[in-house]
Amino acid sequence: MCGIVGFVGNRPCSGLLLEGLSRLEYRGYDSAGIGLLGPDGLVIRRAVGRVAALASLVPESEHTVGLGHTRWATHGGLEVRNAHPHCDRTGRIAVVHNGIIDNADALRARLDPTGAAFISDTDTEVIAHLIAQAYTGDPMAALQQAIGHLQGTWGLVVAFADHPGRLFVARYGSPLVLGFGDDEVFVASDAQAIARWVDQVVHLEDGDQLEIRQGMFASIACRAVPFHAAEEADMGVHRCFMVKEILEQPRVLTNALVGRVSDRGVQLACLVDHPSMRDVSSVVLLACGTSFHAASVGARLIERVAHIPAVAKLASEFSTDGPMVDPRALYIAVSQSGETYDTLEALRRAKGCGAATLGVVNTVDSSIAREADAGLFVHAGPEVAVASTKAFTAQIATLGALALGLAGKPESGVAVAVRKSLMALPDAVESTLERLRDSAAVTMACRWIVDANYALFLGRGPSRHVAEEGSLKLKELSYVPCDAYAAGEMKHGPIAMLKKGTPVVVVVPRDEHRTHMLANIAEVRARGARVIALCEPDDVEVARHADLVLPFDSTHSCLSPVLSVLPMQFLAFRAAELLGLDVDKPRNLAKSVTVA
Ligand code: G6P
Repeated sequence: MCGIVGFVGNRPCSGLLLEGLSRLEYRGYDSAGIGLLGPDGLVIRRAVGRVAALASLVPESEHTVGLGHTRWATHGGLEVRNAHPHCDRTGRIAVVHNGIIDNADALRARLDPTGAAFISDTDTEVIAHLIAQAYTGDPMAALQQAIGHLQGTWGLVVAFADHPGRLFVARYGSPLVLGFGDDEVFVASDAQAIARWVDQVVHLEDGDQLEIRQGMFASIACRAVPFHAAEEADMGVHRCFMVKEILEQPRVLTNALVGRVSDRGVQLACLVDHPSMRDVSSVVLLACGTSFHAASVGARLIERVAHIPAVAKLASEFSTDGPMVDPRALYIAVSQSGETYDTLEALRRAKGCGAATLGVVNTVDSSIAREADAGLFVHAGPEVAVASTKAFTAQIATLGALALGLAGKPESGVAVAVRKSLMALPDAVESTLERLRDSAAVTMACRWIVDANYALFLGRGPSRHVAEEGSLKLKELSYVPCDAYAAGEMKHGPIAMLKKGTPVVVVVPRDEHRTHMLANIAEVRARGARVIALCEPDDVEVARHADLVLPFDSTHSCLSPVLSVLPMQFLAFRAAELLGLDVDKPRNLAKSVTVA
């Protein structure tokens, strides 16, 4: 998945393209490239790495038409020759692409059995050659013909040196929006990338193929929607977005709950508008990555509070496994970005089978928000750091509110306790962050983990998902190998990894699993491993058996992941800092994964 931007107007555009690309870096930052189109043909500049590296290569120019790309590598290594735009053999047709061409190898073999004509290892270059092969002077006809050969997904922008003043775009499975400013047209992978310059956007649909040129708004105005830029994220006084986002969590949780959960009960617009969602036979939550961990906690909340069978499924498996879809169940897509390809595909599958769908998303204008039958926004605000933090806690709080909404009235004892604990969460998060932000224990735990170059994370019940999230966060930020297991499974294999000094991070809230966790801690200690215990500050018994304690405040056991994840967030962030790594943009990752 990658980010695309294009511009047709009457002012110099290289700066606009670079700015748009930097806003799209959350979709990948392996390489970046730009193509400027003018009467003298195409000027292409490409660089491995960030848009900042590309900027220094882009000449001052008067070009008013251009296209750009920021890449997350699928086919081909991180080399300039694999960076977009890709050209045909003559260099007169340039293509930027987001998506994956599944039959690229077959097409490549058919186009040039020796492979000598290809400069890159990418699937995209095949498209450039296909267009060139079909081109006899009519760009749109050539694009259509080339697309006829493709299997897979694409958001495409194509420039022809023979046709300065125009770009050609096509969408199938990868998002593209057109944005309209003052006699100028943008195209981009998302609307926020061009938000500063446009006030109307058109979300392209699968199968769309069109030409963009100045003055085209009239022809497509029927599909345009007014558009407002979202709140801009800036780092403020913080040294990286991740710290800022960790520290924002008290406010974020207040935003997620305000107007929904109060002393009077729970009020959710999605359930008022869709009362039948309360009568579902079961709930299936679909998500990937950190959102999957939040969804797993959410499923437990729904079962415990609403007494409706609930399960979290990995959207990446659901979208291709061909699972049975129960039309009487409610399918909930949980996603920060609202654009994760697998989550969107899973949602479409459930919807296609006639089930009710709900999107629990952070990004209001996203594909999942638009396609689900109803939406429940988590209101975390823009999350910029690739490693998700505030979206995770906001998702759990929102799913807690949903569990209460699904439970309805009269409230059970558990529901009352969860509602009160939800209302107290922002303060509990604030107090836990205070305990952790300058904690010497966090730094010490990081040293142990970095020195051992391994850590095992253990938890039971909802805390298992915190262990999994802690392990995910640590490996994505610090590249330290680590495992996460349900603590009861430790004896069945992971215990073999333990030796003297191995750091083992255990999550031990005061819940029904605590006694068994204490037994697991004893087993870990018996092998000489070091126990880093995440527990409540006054839990002297756990502290007595631990080598280090990272505290979190107490709350209802169903909601403890909102608090116990905070030490995990600090651990991962500090470990990355200790190793001198880029906290906000770890290697190989992207904030939004728009390919299968
Ligand atoms: C990527 C991000 C993760 C995120 C996951 C799911 O892997 O790096 O932080 O949890 O996608 O994204 P979503 O936007 O659907 O929550």
